[in-house]
Amino acid sequence: MSHGTTIETDAAGGADAQQFPLSFALTPSPNARAEAERDAILADPGFGKHFTDHMVTIDWTVEEGWHDARVTPYGPLQIDPASSVLHYGQEIFEGLKAYRHTDGSIWTFRPDKNAERMQRSARRLALPELSVDDFIAAIRQIVAVDGDWVPSGGETSLYIRPFMIANEVFLGVRAANRVSFMVIASPAGAYFADGVAPVKIWLSTEYSRAGRGGTGAAKCGGNYAASLLPQMEAYENGCAQVLFLDGETGSHIDELGGMNVMFVHGDGSGGGTLVTPRLTGTILEGVTRDSILQLARDRGMTVEERDVTIDEWRDGVASGDITEVFACGTAAVITPISVLKGNNVQIGDPDAPAGEVTLALRKELTDIQYGRLPDRHGWLTRLDA
Ligand code: COI
Repeated sequence: MSHGTTIETDAAGGADAQQFPLSFALTPSPNARAEAERDAILADPGFGKHFTDHMVTIDWTVEEGWHDARVTPYGPLQIDPASSVLHYGQEIFEGLKAYRHTDGSIWTFRPDKNAERMQRSARRLALPELSVDDFIAAIRQIVAVDGDWVPSGGETSLYIRPFMIANEVFLGVRAANRVSFMVIASPAGAYFADGVAPVKIWLSTEYSRAGRGGTGAAKCGGNYAASLLPQMEAYENGCAQVLFLDGETGSHIDELGGMNVMFVHGDGSGGGTLVTPRLTGTILEGVTRDSILQLARDRGMTVEERDVTIDEWRDGVASGDITEVFACGTAAVITPISVLKGNNVQIGDPDAPAGEVTLALRKELTDIQYGRLPDRHGWLTRLDA
């Protein structure tokens, strides 16, 4: 390992390397952006457009396990054209955020959940598992070197994107013997262009996102690649996201192209019920999804994880039983859904405002994340100390 200074030595190695601690070597970027340039980006970051000055990489081979952990200048990868990820899509990723609190400190939200989900995704995609400690250590490294990139205005954050690729140079179809785990980070504002304004959703009836025994529960690039064509259909029909039905019966709701979906029954004042599709193996086990279900239980709502059919959605809206629908995910937080559109389908009102329960859950979640409410479930991890 020939990189510069070793800055931390407390991370445990993963896979075969569990016996010795990984140390992250730092090569500082010679091209780190000046403060004025960074501040201009942070003032209007958008989503996923700008990246910080550094990245983390940890390599893995069958022989050595996880090794060569390093923080290097952010920049293009040099990758062999025969690298297996480029041909067979053996890739997984995660998404979590770093939040700046009003005292300047930097925190993240339930990183252990992302680390554990990445381990499950790795198992499904025949990739090596990185330990929870190593995953969180890698996140800490990015914030240690690029902490100034965590914005402080409004509902902004630093979106952290860990990912893992198979980079063995081999065209045979089998699990790769050489893998890299990397972390990049991107200052972020709202995922949707109109912020918290309700979005329209397009119902895809021709395509499904996942099938029984497939990779639907894994956070792998292939799932998102498969959503892009129906997502284009959504855009063509004035919708911000696509909704998928289950692949087997085509009758009940799976999830959106990049987030989970929830239904509020009743007005929430007398308790109300929050319903979301159950985890069947085809649905991503969202960290935001799980947190919202907990916050709903805390406020006395009944929580149901079960099948939800399109007919139930239509009839529930018509009868007034379903009062609100929203999307949720790390990137989208909680985004109200005004209407579901499809071929010969329209459920809801395109002009409907955001619902009260949606906004209350959103406020409570973000207040916890930004340190404005007590962290009663122990969900926050400080990253800059
Ligand atoms: C997230 O919410 O973090 C996601 O991964 C959704 C999308 C940006 C891919």
